[in-house]
Amino acid sequence: MREQELIATARMMVAEGKGLLAMDESTPTCNKRFEKVGIPQNEQTRHSYRELIVTTPGLGEFISGVILYDETIRQSGAYGIPFVKTIIGAGIIPGIKVDIGAKDMAGHPGEKITEGLDGLRDRLTEYSQMGARFAKWRAVVAIGDDIPSWGCIKANAQALARYAALCQEAGLVPVVEPEVLMDGEHTLKRCCEVTKEVLRTVFNELYTQRVMLEGIILKPNMALPGLACPMQETVDEVADATVRCLMRTVPAAVPGITFLSGGQSAELASARLNAMNARFKSRLPWALSFSFARAIQQPALEIWRGKEANVSEAQQALIHRAMCNSAARRGQYKAEMECT
Ligand code: G3H
Repeated sequence: MREQELIATARMMVAEGKGLLAMDESTPTCNKRFEKVGIPQNEQTRHSYRELIVTTPGLGEFISGVILYDETIRQSGAYGIPFVKTIIGAGIIPGIKVDIGAKDMAGHPGEKITEGLDGLRDRLTEYSQMGARFAKWRAVVAIGDDIPSWGCIKANAQALARYAALCQEAGLVPVVEPEVLMDGEHTLKRCCEVTKEVLRTVFNELYTQRVMLEGIILKPNMALPGLACPMQETVDEVADATVRCLMRTVPAAVPGITFLSGGQSAELASARLNAMNARFKSRLPWALSFSFARAIQQPALEIWRGKEANVSEAQQALIHRAMCNSAARRGQYKAEMECT
């Protein structure tokens, strides 16, 4: 294992003022998002959209790394320049989603297990040769009446740990993403209980699989009440609850935590990340940053709508969200930034 290289990459991924941009939607997910805003769903439109993102001027000022999907890492832009080359040229680290999706878990109604371990060693070697320096694997945990079950938490945590060990063997920093979903009526307190249990189990499994914690990035959910819960706590209450969960579960050896946005509005995701950094940054052992997909991309996607004439305006919306989240990473985001 190239320990020093992994540690250096992980630190660069959470460099001050920077975070990750997730643009790793699988083809079905990307198509669904296109459909919602009336964009034709085909390889050409997905290519044009991903090109719009990676060629956004100044992106590297706020974004340390981008997470690509298998289709995208193989694509090239204008003059046949591979996207990976354009990304590296912008001072951004290329990463790759390597799980093959969350599938129904046998014997566990309403729960999912993420697949993709078969053949992963060979795929990681190929992605590394293509220029990827980190990878991502997402596990999902739903909250409901009788779920999550211990079987679901344990199986997903073990898969995350086996993935992480393979990544480090291949010289790629694993982004370990156990997502407790926002869907449902559950309270913030229930989300905290589940998130803590999930994170404790994940770190136990990472230890068992001999994963070097200094060379990973954790990508968790924020601790949030369910979307349908009548009680929605304030930004500061969410920040307090999230930091408390993480302090109780995430070892200090981990260099950084980059949140997913999970369906929060773009502004709320920035405000909550900002509150965590503004209130706690000087007391935390790890960096707190972002690895958002929707909370960075959505406004740009809605402006673009598949039209070449809208590319520049969409890129401005994208860089604006990247800038707001960079400010939140520093604890310097202000709601007034949204009006500029
Ligand atoms: O795996 C999920 C993405 O990387 C993060 O997406 O910020 O839209 O939840 P999101």
